[in-house]
Amino acid sequence: MTTPDRGFSRRSFLKGSAAAGIATTGIAAAATPTPKPTEFGPGEHEITLSINGKERKVKVETRTTLLDALRDGLDLTGAKKVCDRGACGGCTVLVDGLPATSCMMLAMDAVGRELRTVESLAEGATVHPLVQNFAHCDAMQCGFCTPGMVMSSLACLERRGKPTEEQMRHDLSGNLCRCGTYGRVMEAIQRTAAGGQGGGK
Ligand code: FES
Ligand code: FES
Repeated sequence: MTTPDRGFSRRSFLKGSAAAGIATTGIAAAATPTPKPTEFGPGEHEITLSINGKERKVKVETRTTLLDALRDGLDLTGAKKVCDRGACGGCTVLVDGLPATSCMMLAMDAVGRELRTVESLAEGATVHPLVQNFAHCDAMQCGFCTPGMVMSSLACLERRGKPTEEQMRHDLSGNLCRCGTYGRVMEAIQRTAAGGQGGGK
């Protein structure tokens, strides 16, 4: 028994569409060849990072963290390697103005971003008012968490102007201090927000 000719069936439509799709894709692929991806590794590659307003060149492997590139490659040792797993905030730097744990970021992913480290807060003997207020308020004991705490505090101030206690608690929640200086750190932030500088008013 012969199947009656039903003209333009659903099956023939799908077959036609698939064939057209393959043909179109083939034409597009021929017209725009896929660019060859840039290859990195094995071994070191030189990258340029924008750090504290300056372009710095550093050799890294693809696996090198931003923290290691800063400390070992560029001698910027302010950010501390404490847990090396994103848990303590000791390695905090600002990436495009926001705090980031540099032990959890690959150096290569920082290319093209604006990086700020705690070193940016000192110019010769002059230090940022926030740093002066950390000293004035005695906001540190062993000091190991302090560079990261300062950078998170700076981001909090720049983002909020005059942060409330709740906002400070929120913004510092990624920074652990084994010595328990949180209250004094918040005092230093509030003093800076109010225009206080170190021993002055
Ligand atoms: S050292 Fe990076 S979060 Fe602890
Ligand atoms: S001052 Fe010691 S860990 Fe914070």
